[in-house]
Formats: sequence, structure tokens, C-alpha cells
Amino acid sequence: MAASSSSSRATATCASEKSEKKVDVEDMEDRSETAEGGSFASLGVMDVLCEACERLKWKTPTKIQRESLPHSLQGRDVIGLAETGSGKTGAFAIPILQALLERPQRLFALVLTPTRELAFQISEQFEALGSTIGVTCAVVIGGIDMMTQALQLAKKPHVIVATPGRLVDHLENTKGFSLRALKYLVMDEADRILNMDFEAELDKILKVIPKERHTYLYSATMTKKVAKLQRASLKDPVKVEVSSKYDTVEKLQQYYIFIPAKYKDCYLVYILNELAGNNFMVFCSTCNNTQRVALMLRNLGLTAIPLHGQMSQSKRLGTLNKFKGKSRSILIATDVASRGLDIPHVDVVVNFDIPTHSKDYIHRVGRTARAGRAGKSITFVTQYDVELYQRIEQLIDKKLPLFPTEEPEVMLLMERVTEAQRFAKLEMKDLEDKKKGRGRGVEDDSEDAVGIRKKLKISHRGGKR
Ligand SMILES: Nc1ncnc2c1ncn2[C@@H]1O[C@H](COP(=O)(O)OP(=O)(O)OP(=O)(O)O)[C@@H](O)[C@H]1O
Ligand SMILES: [Mg+2]
Repeated sequence: MAASSSSSRATATCASEKSEKKVDVEDMEDRSETAEGGSFASLGVMDVLCEACERLKWKTPTKIQRESLPHSLQGRDVIGLAETGSGKTGAFAIPILQALLERPQRLFALVLTPTRELAFQISEQFEALGSTIGVTCAVVIGGIDMMTQALQLAKKPHVIVATPGRLVDHLENTKGFSLRALKYLVMDEADRILNMDFEAELDKILKVIPKERHTYLYSATMTKKVAKLQRASLKDPVKVEVSSKYDTVEKLQQYYIFIPAKYKDCYLVYILNELAGNNFMVFCSTCNNTQRVALMLRNLGLTAIPLHGQMSQSKRLGTLNKFKGKSRSILIATDVASRGLDIPHVDVVVNFDIPTHSKDYIHRVGRTARAGRAGKSITFVTQYDVELYQRIEQLIDKKLPLFPTEEPEVMLLMERVTEAQRFAKLEMKDLEDKKKGRGRGVEDDSEDAVGIRKKLKISHRGGKR
């Protein structure tokens, strides 16, 4: 599709006050007419943003970018459905930055996202793409001081990336802050944002932003319920679906293991040892179990670290940074980490507790095998999980192979695992007591809770490979 003429004639900078950064893209039309749709320029993306993509080593647009950009750059609303790790963030950030270049304005775009860590990641992506054009972003999320955020908002950034609850808080309580001039609204992980959990907040937000705006909805799974989509009040949207409804990534090898519930810990330790040297994300269903599993693994000398909603925000970010920086190789997390997070070196996803919502399966396993890389996922299925597992197989329309395990070898671990479990239990109790004493949540990421562990000297059996 040809580039929109308006986008290709732009001669602006979003920070118009910075005149030295003016961008002239008059010559772009020629190239867009001759190119074969294989470059960002050929889709109508301005030079300065093409250069930004090059700097990020994005040589060619991904499929969702190729198919959505011609529409979004023409000003259409977009519903974008594409598999995990396929570049949806770029697909919505590029047209917003381009529009911002054309008509610079503060408080120009709002991106709503379900989790705090994802908000930071999206903001980083906007900043990376917009670094040379002076784009300013603010992250508005819970768990961080309101006042600091209010000061950031007072500076009127171009883009706000927010979790719905905290944004409402600011809309209601921060003097002088309003989104009445907003031009773009994005719901990343849109099916989640349109979910009941965020209903009240979203209604409040939609009431105070202009009806005349552009709206983008993106996710790897989309709601089929028209009523839910209607709430986003899209105008004549283009639906861009580059995957069939619930696709998982081609380069992802998916497995399951069928085991008795009482041996789950043992099998986890076995798998972590078998695949030692890899980076793992292990998903659990509750904060408590996440904490417990992390403690249990650490008692066995494994570099596991938990991430869940009952930790303080600074601990959550600290945990994620340790995992991203590879100083910890096993991240144990609740579904707070199942959507959107882009950590390219994740090799293996383990569903230690089976996801109760089948769609979460797609997002969880999508934390590996991103942007064309390979990856593995292993889902634990116990005697209690058969029905849920069948639902997952139905959703992804695949029968998964069994992950090969040697039962006698697993059972050899039993004794050490039992001991580690016992100490983990004591440590959990210790944390619980501290929590009561301090009158706040299980804030400890348990790295400090090694008093008991010190008494337990168990060396980590190296992996076979
Ligand atoms: N055109 C491109 N070429 C190469 N890499 C790209 C391109 N666009 C995006 N990427 C990279 O691909 C990775 C995944 O992108 P992104 O996080 O946007 O995926 P996503 O589709 O939003 O996935 P999810 O559904 O999990 O949120 C990122 O590391 C990003 O930098
Ligand atoms: Mg994403």
C-alpha cells in the first residue's frame, strides 16, 4: 500500500522548540513508490524514524508492522492481532511518533497496559525510537510515589504509559493534569485491558479523553466479544490479523509432562538440572507458591528469584533487572510477568502451575522464542489439571509431545528436595511473622531470608550437558 501523502510530506519535529532537529522527508515518496514493501520507508515511515529502526537493528518491518503501518499512518484505527514477540510495540509506537512529528503537541498519546513492568518497557521502546526527535515519556504506575509522578506529569510529556488504576488516581487528584487534548489511545494487551478487572478504571478514563482521537488495540489474543470491543469506541477500525486467532510461535517447542501433584517440586528440580545453562521463567499461580518455589530452589543452590504482586515495586524492578542482567537464571513469577515482557534470552518457560485461563498459556509461553529465536516450553499437568490442559490444547489446536524424563532419576532427588521444601516452609513462616510485625505485604524477595538456608549445605548438581 502506498504511503499516505500527509505522512510523507511532514517537515516537523515533535519538539518543535528544537529546530535543529527538523526533518525533511520530501524525498521519501520516491523511494516508497519504488520499494517492494520490504522497508520501513516503503510503508511511509519518515526517514528519521527509519534511522531509529536501523539503530535498533530492525532491518525490515515484521509482518504485523508491515500490515498495520500503512493503515495507521493514514490515520485509521487499528485492531492488531499478532503472535507474541512479533513487534506489536513498534507497530503502534511508530505511527504515533510520526503523527507527533507532524503535529507536535504535549500529552499527545496514552498507552494503557496491564502491568507496571510492561509500562516501563513500552516507555523505553518509545524513547529508543524517539531518541533523536526529543520525545518525552512518563510512566504512570502504582507502587511508586504519587508526588514524583505528579511532577513528571506537570512537565507535560508527549507520551504517557500507564496502568489504568494509577492513571485514574492522577486524573482525579492531580491538580492541573488533564488528557482533554489527547490524540492517540493505545490499549496494549487490549483483551486484558478490556477485561472486567479494569472496567471501572477504563470507563473513567474513556470519559475524560476526547472522542475524536485515534485508537489502537493490540494483543496476541483478542476478545471475540463485540460488546467489549465497542467499549474502546473505535472508529471504522481496520482489523489486522497476521496470525490465526490463537497461534503460538513456530520456533517454540512445546511439551507437557504428566506427573502426580506431589512430585511437582522434584520434577521442577530435575528439569532445571537437565536443562542447566539455560535461562528459565517458571510460572506459578499464586504469590505464595511463587515465593515458596523460589525459596525451595534457592535452598538447593539454584539462582532462582521470585516476582509477584505482593512485592514492593522497587523489589519487583530489582528482580527483573537481576534476571535481565543474567545474574539470576531462574525467574519464578505469577501471571504478572506473563504478558508483554521482552527478555530475549529466556530459553525455557515452565508452567509449574497450569494457567487457569487458557489464553494466559499463549502469553506465558510467548516469553520465549521471541523475534524469530528458538525456545522451549514445558507444562506440568497433574491429575487435577487434565481438563484445563485439554482446554489449552483445544485453544492452540495442537497436541503437544511429552517431555522425556527419567523417573528413577527424578526420584533420586526426592530426599534433598524434601529437605529444601521443609526449610522453605520455615522461611515462609519467618517472612509471614516479619510481615505481621511490619504490618505490610510479603515485601521480601526472599534473597535476604537466608538465615535458615545457611544451615543447609546442598550443592547444585550440575546439568548433564
Ligand atoms: N522490525 C523488527 N525487526 C527486528 N526486531 C524487531 C522488529 N520490531 C520489533 N523487534 C523486536 O522484537 C522483540 C519483540 O517485540 P515486542 O515486544 O514488540 O513484541 P510483541 O508482539 O509486543 O509481543 P507480546 O505479545 O509478547 O507483547 C523486541 O525485542 C523488539 O525490539
Ligand atoms: Mg507486546
